[in-house]
This record gives sequence, C-alpha cells and structure tokens, in this order.
Amino acid sequence: MSRLVYLLNGPNLNLLGKRQPHIYGHETLADVERDCRALAGELALELRFHQSNREYELIDWIHEARETAVGIVMNPAAFTHTSVAILDALNTFEGTVIEVHISNVHKREEFRHHSFVSKRADGVIAGFGTQGYLLGLHRVAKLLDEKKG
Ligand code: DQA
Repeated sequence: MSRLVYLLNGPNLNLLGKRQPHIYGHETLADVERDCRALAGELALELRFHQSNREYELIDWIHEARETAVGIVMNPAAFTHTSVAILDALNTFEGTVIEVHISNVHKREEFRHHSFVSKRADGVIAGFGTQGYLLGLHRVAKLLDEKKG
C-alpha cells in the first residue's frame, strides 16, 4: 500500500518566519519542510510538500493526491474560513485528512472560528505551532499502521 502523504500549505504561509512572528513563530516554511521530511523518513512515509497562494493550485494537488496518496495534512490558511471549493475537493479524497493551524484559531477573531475544511477533516490540530504538522504526520502514519494490523 502507498505511504504517500501530501502536505499542503495555503496562502501567505510562504512568509512564515517573517509574517506576524508573535502569532506564527520564527521558523520558516523551509524549516518546517526540513523537519517534516526528517520525520517522514522515520515514519516510512513518502512526502510531497507544497505551498501556494492560489486556491486552484491547492485544489489541483488535492486531485493529484486522490490518485496516489493515503493522506493529506493541510494548513489551508485563510482558505479554511472561505473555501467551499477546497472542501469539495477534499470530499473527493478517500484517505485521511488532517487540518493543521499553527495558531489557536479559536482564541482569535470570530471569523477564524468557522472552518469549511473541518467538515471533512478526520482530525484538527490548532495552536501547537509548527509542531502541528509533525503531529499530523504521526497521526496519518498511526492510522495506516493500524489498518495494516
Ligand atoms: C492559520 C490560521 C488562519 O486563520 C490564517 O488565515 C492563516 C494561518 C494558522 O496556521 O494558524 O493564514 O491557518
């Protein structure tokens, strides 16, 4: 069985480390990718790591994942709160979906409390900083290993 996982990041996350570091921390997306690749190696997962500011590109990667991947770990960023299109795309995916937010969105403005993506996500991680991505990968690997028995 495939152990391919897509790790997808939405808009503005390319600025991680520079953007509001009091909220999102000092680590860059390149740091996150490095740590996720190291963990994926330990968990015997194959990883595709992407970021885009464009909704359609994220949707295209979800479609790609449909064909090949067993899990999607996704921080949809602001699209979390607005995108029915990303929810629809995730609804076509049969594997595990983990939604990640670096900040605790529930502690923040009201408009961040609603997530379209949560309607599909099997698990939601918020407020663990960039560690949330690693927790998401751990969860996908655990569910896969349980399936294998
Ligand atoms: C975020 C939270 C969103 O509300 C925000 O629009 C982001 C990042 C997070 O990781 O905490 O861009 O998804």
